[in-house]
Order: sequence, then structure tokens, then C-alpha cells
Amino acid sequence: MVGAPSLPCFDMSWERAPLLKGKTIVVTGSASGIGQETARVCSAMGARVLGIDVTKRFDHVEEFYRADLSDGATIDALIDVLPKGIDGIANIAGLPPTAPADKVVAVNLFGLKHLTLGLIPKLNDGASIVNLASLAGFGWPDAVHAIRASEDVHVDDAARFAVDHQITNEGGRSYFFSKEALIAWTMQNRWTWRDRGIRMNAVSPGPVDTPILGDFLETLGARAEEDARIMDRPGTPQDLAPIVAFLLSDMTTWIRGTNIPADGGMSSNILCEMHGLSS
Ligand SMILES: NC(=O)c1ccc[n+]([C@@H]2O[C@H](COP(=O)([O-])OP(=O)(O)OC[C@H]3O[C@@H](n4cnc5c(N)ncnc54)[C@H](O)[C@@H]3O)[C@@H](O)[C@H]2O)c1
Repeated sequence: MVGAPSLPCFDMSWERAPLLKGKTIVVTGSASGIGQETARVCSAMGARVLGIDVTKRFDHVEEFYRADLSDGATIDALIDVLPKGIDGIANIAGLPPTAPADKVVAVNLFGLKHLTLGLIPKLNDGASIVNLASLAGFGWPDAVHAIRASEDVHVDDAARFAVDHQITNEGGRSYFFSKEALIAWTMQNRWTWRDRGIRMNAVSPGPVDTPILGDFLETLGARAEEDARIMDRPGTPQDLAPIVAFLLSDMTTWIRGTNIPADGGMSSNILCEMHGLSS
């Protein structure tokens, strides 16, 4: 896994399939990386995209809302101002493990949950919610105690939670925990809105070549070097956005509470090694 990936030349004509025609999709983190590419792909597939980010950028969105998703009052104001009739939410905004620990858990977990739960009344029946988790959340079964403790924490209490549960940045723990808890929350909500046909799923990328890849490499040190040795290339936003768009489409109405790894084979590699299946 060295530098900018050289991608095989895939046929991208699927982008013109109108899979999201007539749908209104909220994309958080729309100003950069995976969120920006998801906004582009969803627009290309016929959706009206409402972008949200703390950074102002209007590419590929029909409407843009500038908001800091670590702040409860800002999220409440955003929920008020967003229109009714939303068909999908792509929760993609996120901070890397080099950001302050309380901000990482606020944006990646508590703010995401606050926004999503606040928007449920504005969703159409049959809507799809997609949470961008991470391979970093793979170890969620070992964090169940802290995950349960985090369940009802308000976004504005993220700092207190991080202190009480020793969620610091050491070894990237704040980031790992935010993604572990997000995968758990996705599974827990497999049937929460089943009567309205609203589903929630997650996508878990391995290392992706976006502006925050360097932050991960810096935090993970030797572990990242080992990943780099095994991987052929890092992912790109173009690898991830179609998976999010697929989950937002009506092709996936029976996929519920699932976490889809999209990591070039990394999670399978970990599982094979854990269970003695490596050759
Ligand atoms: N890049 C990777 O290697 C990788 C791997 C696994 C998972 N992910 C996840 O993918 C998602 C997208 O990351 P990316 O790699 O595209 O990074 P990115 O930095 O390119 O995009 C993240 C976006 O989130 C926005 N954001 C950050 N804090 C915010 C806040 N307080 N309020 C509103 N918006 C905020 C940023 O402005 C940015 O536009 C994140 O949730 C990240 O954790 C990334």
C-alpha cells in the first residue's frame, strides 16, 4: 500500500442508472472525501442531495447546510430547518484520531445519533440510513460495557463521557470506540422503525485515501505499517460511495442492521487469522 493508488479502469456506466431518482438524500461530511464522492454519486443517480458539513462547500449538492455536528443546539437547529420527506441519510462526517478525544466521540457517535434520531419524524416510510463506520470498529464485542454506558449520553455530554470512561486518544482509542459503538448502534436498531420500513446499516472501510488517511497512519504507527505490508492499495472514495448509494436505494430493503466491510479484504484476513484459516 504505497502512496496514491493506481486503480484498475472500471466501467462506470452504472452511475447513470437512476437508482435514486426522486429521492431526497441527506449526506453529512459532503465537503470532502467519501462524503463528497457519495454526494456526487447520489446526484448522478438522480437524487436531490442535501449536504451538511462544518466546511462550506457546495459541490454536488442541491442544498448545503453548514453545521458543527459536535454541538447539540446546532444539530437541533439543523433538524428544524431540514425539509420533511427525506428518503435517506448518509452519516459520513467524521473526525480522525488526531482530533481531541471528546470531539471525536461527539462527531463520530453522539452527534450522528442525535441528528439521526431527530430526523426520524422527517423521513419518508421506506427510508434508508447508512452509517460510515470503520474497520477500526471490528473489535466492538470487547467494548460492550462502555458501549452500553454510552447509549443514552447526550452529544453535549461527550467530554464528560470520555473522561468517565477513559476514552482518550492513546492508540486511537477515541476513534476506535466511536466506530465500535456505531456498529453496535446500527445492529441494535435493526428493527426499531420496521413498522415504517425504515432501515439502518453501516459500511466499514479499511484505510481510504482521503485527507485524513495521514492522521490514521500517524496514530496507528506500526499497526498501519503492518496493514500497508498486507494491502495492495488503500481504498478510494470511489470504492466507497457506490456501496453507500446501493444501501440507500430500493435494492436493499431487506438488508437491516448489517455492517458491510469494504476494506480490500482486511476484515476477512483478520477473521482467517483469528480462526486458523490462513494458509
Ligand atoms: N479515510 C479513511 O481511511 C477512513 C477509513 C474508515 C472510515 N472512515 C470514515 O469515513 C468518514 C469520512 O471520512 P473521510 O475519510 O472522507 O474524511 P474527510 O476528512 O475527507 O471527510 C470528513 C468530513 O467530515 C467533516 N466534519 C468533520 N467534523 C465535522 C463536524 N464537527 N461537523 C460537520 N462536519 C464535520 C469534515 O469537514 C469533512 O468534510 C468518516 O466517518 C471516517 O471516520 C475513513
